[in-house]
Amino acid sequence: MTEFDTPRWIPLDERSLDPDPFVQFERWWEEAVAVVREPEAICLATADASGQPRARMVLLRGRDERGFSIYTNYLSRKGEDLAENPRASLLWYVEPLGRQVRIEGSVEQVSAAESDDYFAARPRGHQLGAHASHQSQPIESRSALEDAVVEQERRFADADVPRPEHWGGYRIVPTSFEFWQHREDRIHDRVLYAPAEGGGWDRHRHQP
Ligand SMILES: Cc1cc2nc3c(=O)[nH]c(=O)nc-3n(C[C@H](O)[C@H](O)[C@H](O)COP(=O)(O)O)c2cc1C
Repeated sequence: MTEFDTPRWIPLDERSLDPDPFVQFERWWEEAVAVVREPEAICLATADASGQPRARMVLLRGRDERGFSIYTNYLSRKGEDLAENPRASLLWYVEPLGRQVRIEGSVEQVSAAESDDYFAARPRGHQLGAHASHQSQPIESRSALEDAVVEQERRFADADVPRPEHWGGYRIVPTSFEFWQHREDRIHDRVLYAPAEGGGWDRHRHQP
């Protein structure tokens, strides 16, 4: 048995959960960081105007009281979906702890200044890739993509790489959270948070 095989299923008791789901998420985040190689990996689901859902993994790069932010190409398929329908769902799974968090909400672009700061802190190869890759568009070959990167290397030789206008962050502003805990007896725990009238959040247990 490795440390990753050892179940750490801690029953979920709505009374012990923080009244603020953002704080509760941070608690689970800290526990996940100890046991997961890449806790930032999270599934982002969008839907276009016709209602066609589309899910993909992204990296969760920002977590604060305003919401949860990810970075991408605004002209990508997800960017098109979000332009048509600025709503999304995030799904975070922490296998060793038997936990799932589902977040639903509206989506906004983060400020240009925040995107600039994040982009400036990325490795140069990622920055060049953001210029070279027309994310979600077809390309005839891998070598055409590599040529596009070389072209950007030449373009920005000996210079800082600026953030492309079409690249930046989205913030998912939650309207609901669900915390799900695996239980050995398979009667799993689910606690949902919804906005309370007059501010704050209500917590409800749901059936598994
Ligand atoms: C673990 C993991 C993390 C990823 N992180 C990102 C990310 O932060 N931003 C991003 O644009 N794509 C990321 N991707 C790639 C996306 O899953 C997806 O292929 C890409 O964003 C294009 O999606 P779209 O065509 O729906 O826009 C990641 C993929 C994996 C497997």
